[in-house]
Amino acid sequence: MVYAATATAPVNIACIKYWGKRDTKLILPTNSSLSVTLDQDHLRSTTTSRADESFEKGDRLWLNGKEEVVKPDGRLGVCITELRNWRSIEEEKDSSLPKLSQWPLRIASYNNFPTAAGLASSASGLAALVASLARLYQLPQTPSQLSLIARQGSGSACRSLFGGFVAWREGVKSDGSDSLAEEVAPQSHWPDMHAVICVVSDAKKGTSSTSGMQRTVETSTLLQERLRIVPGRMEAISTAIKEKNFEEFASITMKDSNSFHSVCLDTSPPIFYLNDVSKSIIAVIEELNRSSGKIIAAYTFDAGPNAVIYALKENIPKVLGAINRFFPTSEEPRDPFGIAAQDLPEGFDLK
Ligand code: DP6
Repeated sequence: MVYAATATAPVNIACIKYWGKRDTKLILPTNSSLSVTLDQDHLRSTTTSRADESFEKGDRLWLNGKEEVVKPDGRLGVCITELRNWRSIEEEKDSSLPKLSQWPLRIASYNNFPTAAGLASSASGLAALVASLARLYQLPQTPSQLSLIARQGSGSACRSLFGGFVAWREGVKSDGSDSLAEEVAPQSHWPDMHAVICVVSDAKKGTSSTSGMQRTVETSTLLQERLRIVPGRMEAISTAIKEKNFEEFASITMKDSNSFHSVCLDTSPPIFYLNDVSKSIIAVIEELNRSSGKIIAAYTFDAGPNAVIYALKENIPKVLGAINRFFPTSEEPRDPFGIAAQDLPEGFDLK
């Protein structure tokens, strides 16, 4: 009998950013966050886990074919241990279950997109790892309960256990038992919401999210102001999603991206994730919105220069038209929907 299970998890991009931990070991955030899971076949991590009595002692893990060391007290090790503990509880309840919790593991994980492209590979990777082990161990826990474990692998990973619109509630308990992800709305609630990803640079980021956010917590005074503002934004964007109010959704998304990059600048030494191309993309989208007479697109940037632009399906041709005009690429843009770029709105005028 072979005990193996495979699971995949997609990338998620936050509209309300997670930036700061109140507990670095348990990965408890300083604020709640909210993201959209990108339901794309080409932006996923796939993980296969196998438990076997005959394996040599110790767990081993390969990421894109390269072996990573699993330290027992490191992030991966903690996730594996917690899931094993849940499995052993099931084995105690039902003695007929094979003792998988005692067997060594071999885990292989692949991203079908460049790991270095700054597209939240740790989020999908850790979520796929947790989902595959939960399946291997046939755990009864809900996705929200599993998110408690994924969170300890990488904060943003807890949101990738759900599709659609997902909130990570910061929680109040010091043991982290209420710091979990939950669905705000499924993808089917607002299927017209689309994302355009503009890869500005596929170089590995200079300052990692983990160390960058810690530096912000330690040195930024502006962060306190951000923490005052975010709860209201969480409420407002959840309502906007429920009511499918794109303008409100987009306005909050852009504000929060800019607020996040402002606290990065307020960090000492300052952190710059946006480059000149990123800033030009902001200018193009702002002008596209102005000349359209309403907000039809929202940019957001994570810990790197790449832009994600949210827009409703009907407006994607306009977004592609604007981006293609100002940033022609040697490569044909990847366009899974076959949507043609459209001319810019009349009056579009980028100074
Ligand atoms: C800017 O989840 O990568 O993408 O918890 O230290 O692993 P760790 O950080 P990580 O941070 C993501 C930061 C962000 C914003 C977000 O996804 O909410």
